[in-house]
Amino acid sequence: MAISREISDLDAGFYKPADAFFAAHSDLALTYDDVTLATLYSEILPRDTQLDIVLAESLRLNIPVISADMDTVTESRMAIAMALNGALGLLHYNMPEKQQLSEVSRVKNHVHGLIQEPIKVAPDQLIGDVLKMVEERRFEFRTFPVVEESGKLLGLLPGHVVKQRYAKRKVIEALTPRDQVHTIGKKEISKDPIARADKFFTDHPGIHKLLVVDEDDRLHGLFTMSDVERITQEKKAQFKPARDTKFRLVCGAAVSATRNMFGELDRERIVTHVGALVERGVDVIAVSTAHGFSKGVGETVKMIRDAFPRLPIIAGNVTSAAGVEFLAAAGANAIKVGQGPGSICTTRVVAGVGIPQLTALYVTARAAEARGVSIIADGGITKSGDIVKALTLSHAVICGGIFAGCPEAPGQILEINGKLYKQYRGMGSLAAMKDGSAARYGHSTSAPAKVAPEGVEALKEATASVDAVLTQLIGGIQSGMGYLGASNLGQLREKARFIRVSPAGIREAGTHDIVEVKTGS
Ligand code: XMP
Repeated sequence: MAISREISDLDAGFYKPADAFFAAHSDLALTYDDVTLATLYSEILPRDTQLDIVLAESLRLNIPVISADMDTVTESRMAIAMALNGALGLLHYNMPEKQQLSEVSRVKNHVHGLIQEPIKVAPDQLIGDVLKMVEERRFEFRTFPVVEESGKLLGLLPGHVVKQRYAKRKVIEALTPRDQVHTIGKKEISKDPIARADKFFTDHPGIHKLLVVDEDDRLHGLFTMSDVERITQEKKAQFKPARDTKFRLVCGAAVSATRNMFGELDRERIVTHVGALVERGVDVIAVSTAHGFSKGVGETVKMIRDAFPRLPIIAGNVTSAAGVEFLAAAGANAIKVGQGPGSICTTRVVAGVGIPQLTALYVTARAAEARGVSIIADGGITKSGDIVKALTLSHAVICGGIFAGCPEAPGQILEINGKLYKQYRGMGSLAAMKDGSAARYGHSTSAPAKVAPEGVEALKEATASVDAVLTQLIGGIQSGMGYLGASNLGQLREKARFIRVSPAGIREAGTHDIVEVKTGS
């Protein structure tokens, strides 16, 4: 007798596809821990699963994870780490606009194959001024090509002379002269620049920088050995960095529906700032607010869409089908779903609104499908299993708390009773609103103390690096897909079968009746 590998009638009576399952629970709002996914026949090994996702025409991620646009989660360091892992970081907006532009530049300029516009110094500059520039612009390197005003290469200022001791000397007195500097002709690198640079570094032990010049000896770029090595390594990784068409890391930036002193949307300021972000190479803009289904947010999205027809736009947050339709009609490509699920959120307590995340995702996902936009599950994710469940209904997830303890998150490590922590605060907390995020919650930045905060200030235990955290999360997502026989995220959405879990079932799901022992690091 042939044994069916599809779901049997008996299984089908218990384990329901999303439409049947959520329709049967239409009077109850459910979240991650309320359900579990049924395992299905599989020929898929976790390591063979694909996690890439297209969030908008020009925005492809290799893993469907986004770090939250929060001031204790994503600045350039986090965004770089996320993109290097194939994911995306959304730079927060609780900083001056000019600073947000520099943060975008930091991400976009990180690890090019060829640095096309290397930072140069002039021969008559003082080394003290070079040092000041290094400190002010937080450069992690100290070796600079020295060029004449015409762009002609004069030499290389080596890092070991960029020291306070030589502050009063001029660059020209300390540089390695042109005839001792290794260069390569622009024409020689046209085919496969990285392979060419890689060969050069192998052939020249001890040399870590290779300058590119034209026929007139004018500087046209710079390779560094560490960049070239990292890119060569990337070619072997399963999940490649998320890059744009110019091979730069991808990066998103959040903006709010900024209002002027008369309380009207500040159109000029919003469009000018988004234009400047686009000029710096930003790949996606997120119009991030607590209530996306509102006039101001719709108008902001539309204004950005009209001014930048091809720019990917994420907008939110909503929890209803009508909210999705509204933002999609305004021009958003991907919609953030989540009101109150976040680990630092108090919106549901303070305002009495918000929908538990899985029900919100189901309702919004169905509306998104009809409109051809993507859904991003934002907040409430504490473990990789939650991400698998979220991805049965959405295209990507946004995590704040999971990354807030990483060294790449902004802020210092605090030691309390021998344990290490990092600060993590809601963007609707009083402190964050004072620093500028009040508009996200529909309040004026000038008097945030008079409003009810919708988030708290907290601490997260310091964790391992983003690489390590993502490795665990990705491993979990791949395991989940293996159990469901899904080789890609589309199949995961198609195949998922849900069932509710009792409180005892939730207890059973965690470790129990043991004393856990930690071996290994
Ligand atoms: P997790 O659970 O990953 O949630 O820490 C991060 C998400 O929470 C949202 N967020 C807030 N929501 N009050 C809220 O109600 C807040 O103060 C607040 N700050 C952030 C946001 O969507 C983020 O991505």
